[in-house]
Amino acid sequence: MTHSRHQRKKHMRFTIIISFLTFLLIAASIGFGFKVEHDAQVRKEKIAAYQKLKVSAQSAETLAYKEPTDANFKKAQDLVNQLEKTDQKPIQEKLTQLDVYLKQIDSAKDAINQYAQAKTPASLTAAQNAINLLTSDYEKTQKTTLLQQLANTKKKVEDEQAAAAKKAAAEQAKKEAAEFKNKKLVALTFDDGPNPITTPTLLAELKAANVKVTFFALGEEAQAYPNVIKAEAADGHEVASHTWDHKDLTTLSPAAQNQEIMSAHDLINSLSGQQTTIYRPPYGSYNDTTLAASPLSPVLWSADTNDWKYVGNTPIVVQNAVSSAHDGAIILLHDIDSWSVAAVPSIISQLKAQGYTFVTVSQMMAARPAGTVHNGKVYTGY
Ligand code: NI
Repeated sequence: MTHSRHQRKKHMRFTIIISFLTFLLIAASIGFGFKVEHDAQVRKEKIAAYQKLKVSAQSAETLAYKEPTDANFKKAQDLVNQLEKTDQKPIQEKLTQLDVYLKQIDSAKDAINQYAQAKTPASLTAAQNAINLLTSDYEKTQKTTLLQQLANTKKKVEDEQAAAAKKAAAEQAKKEAAEFKNKKLVALTFDDGPNPITTPTLLAELKAANVKVTFFALGEEAQAYPNVIKAEAADGHEVASHTWDHKDLTTLSPAAQNQEIMSAHDLINSLSGQQTTIYRPPYGSYNDTTLAASPLSPVLWSADTNDWKYVGNTPIVVQNAVSSAHDGAIILLHDIDSWSVAAVPSIISQLKAQGYTFVTVSQMMAARPAGTVHNGKVYTGY
């Protein structure tokens, strides 16, 4: 009895142990199964999240291209930075390219603003160059806008500068008129040039004497020697039209007269940068048709040296100029005649000794209004 009880007890304990072990085994298996399943789930979620990140990065990049604000660009860059290296590459390249475009557009905008401030030719060129860098399709629309903006800015700057120049010229003329009012004035005028040899010689003499004169140049000679016209203007002389090729205007139709006067006027002004309002008809020859043929005022002379007649005779040219001088005189000479050019230093020194002040024709006209000058024909049309 005792023995059997003892055995049964032992058997029971064994069964309990086995059951327990079995239980543990089953529990562990279940637990492991759960764990495996759980890990797979986590991985799946991670992949989904990464896919989502990739899509977001791409959308952000697309948005940054469409609306290239700093915020959009930064957002796209942040998302790209979170991607794996191989996925980063293509989107990063597009973003880097966008950054280049945006910087170029910003630079062009800055350059236009700088031009608006500085108003210099160099800053205009810089703005044009900055816009020219915008060559991609992406920048096309901006380029059109910026070109228009630059054109508007340029027009504004030019209008301002023209107004300022006009104001300065008016003030200068007023100042000169006051300055010259009570002085003995004389205007030397030189016709039929420019000549590539005698005119530069004359310019050197005038510079040495610090005297400004008026050139009445021919259009065809100005076309042949444009640099001489530019040099005359650069030295501060007045340069006006003497018609294109020295025809007697009274023999021409109204249209031909206009053409003769204005073609030379336009060319000479474009070379000199001046806006003259006067011209001199060849031979001093004009009629009522001539007066109506152009908006310019014909200017003749009150003292004729007849220099062209006295070939090689410098002393007589000096004598004729000095003896015919008077207050308000407009003296006629020719810069194509070497003997006349040789006479100029003596003419200037003798007239300076007599107290004369040398002016251009336009300065004379401002200082001596119509009717007060010798010879009623001097400012014909005034
Ligand atoms: Ni002439």
